[in-house]
Amino acid sequence: MDDNRIVSQDSDENEDSLEQSLRPQNFKQYIGQKEIKDSLNVYIKAAKQREESLDHVLLYGPPGLGKTTMAMVIAHEMDVNLKITSGPAIEKNGDLAALLNELEPGDILFIDEIHRLPKVVEEMLYSAMEDFYIDIVIGQGPTAHPVHFSLPPFTLIGATTRAGLLDAPFRNRFGIVEHMNYYNQADLEKIVKRSAAIFNSNIKDEGAREVALRSRGTPRIANRLLKRVRDFAQVSGKTEIDIASVDQALLALGVDNRGLDRTDVKLLKTMIEFYRGGPVGLNTIAANIGEEADTIAEMYEPYLLQMGYIKRTARGRMVTDKGYAHLGIENSND
Ligand SMILES: Nc1ncnc2c1ncn2[C@@H]1O[C@H](COP(=O)(O)OP(=O)(O)OP(=O)(O)O)[C@@H](O)[C@H]1O
Ligand SMILES: [Mg+2]
Repeated sequence: MDDNRIVSQDSDENEDSLEQSLRPQNFKQYIGQKEIKDSLNVYIKAAKQREESLDHVLLYGPPGLGKTTMAMVIAHEMDVNLKITSGPAIEKNGDLAALLNELEPGDILFIDEIHRLPKVVEEMLYSAMEDFYIDIVIGQGPTAHPVHFSLPPFTLIGATTRAGLLDAPFRNRFGIVEHMNYYNQADLEKIVKRSAAIFNSNIKDEGAREVALRSRGTPRIANRLLKRVRDFAQVSGKTEIDIASVDQALLALGVDNRGLDRTDVKLLKTMIEFYRGGPVGLNTIAANIGEEADTIAEMYEPYLLQMGYIKRTARGRMVTDKGYAHLGIENSND
């Protein structure tokens, strides 16, 4: 995969300190997602008043919208420790037992990509989540015996881009389920301005507006674009980031005036040129543009759907009139 691409799933794992400083620490700094913040605030207050652990939380939505950040903010607001891991990192029951064993009462265990937990581990979580115990088998062969471990009350926060991939029994054990949506233009502008201030860069209002408009409703992308835009402004000797710097940087990055990158455009054009705009199946599109079907479903399609450039039908995906218009191609099917 092209590491430079703007739409990427990596959670900026090798975050430098600048990146760290961009992360909101508390609800006040966390911009947007108002409904989610408002309800979480109530659940957090109530749990604190009762001196109980917060109910388990499932956060789902496209990559880069701030799920990991939200888990950190919840831990901060609850004033408890946060342990971070991910579905693929927990390979066997013993790994999970070790993590759970380290928790103190009220602590939060955050599991990213929770849809990728091995089934056996998921099943061990059921009793841990519901009644705060696990049963594990110690030893092998004739000496093997089950051991019952009680756990302190804790909160599991799961994050996933694909809530539909979780089994119902698992999903139902989360008392709080929140769907993270793409950010609106006003909130993204605030995020761009906040990040620019942290970078010590001056950005004109119209510059911030333009970066926001082209960030696919996604804070992580807004921050990435801003960094490149800032480079272009600096090299051209500008003291303030203006629209021209944004245009220049985004042209170089292959991001169009609505935030579509080269892969999005290739996807739409393939659907139009080879399948007359569809309907066409996800796997067929994937094979044609050389991407995994999962990658398209998680990273590309949600934004194209949100923008109304494609739609889902029973027979497959179709490019809409709006999609044709965006590419400046005439829809000869009409
Ligand atoms: N509400 C917000 N306000 C300001 N900045 C935000 C907000 N949400 C996220 N960010 C910024 O966007 C970046 C990406 O957020 P985060 O890593 O939490 O996304 P994520 O949903 O966990 O993504 P993934 O699904 O890829 O793991 C963070 O580094 C943070 O700086
Ligand atoms: Mg994350």
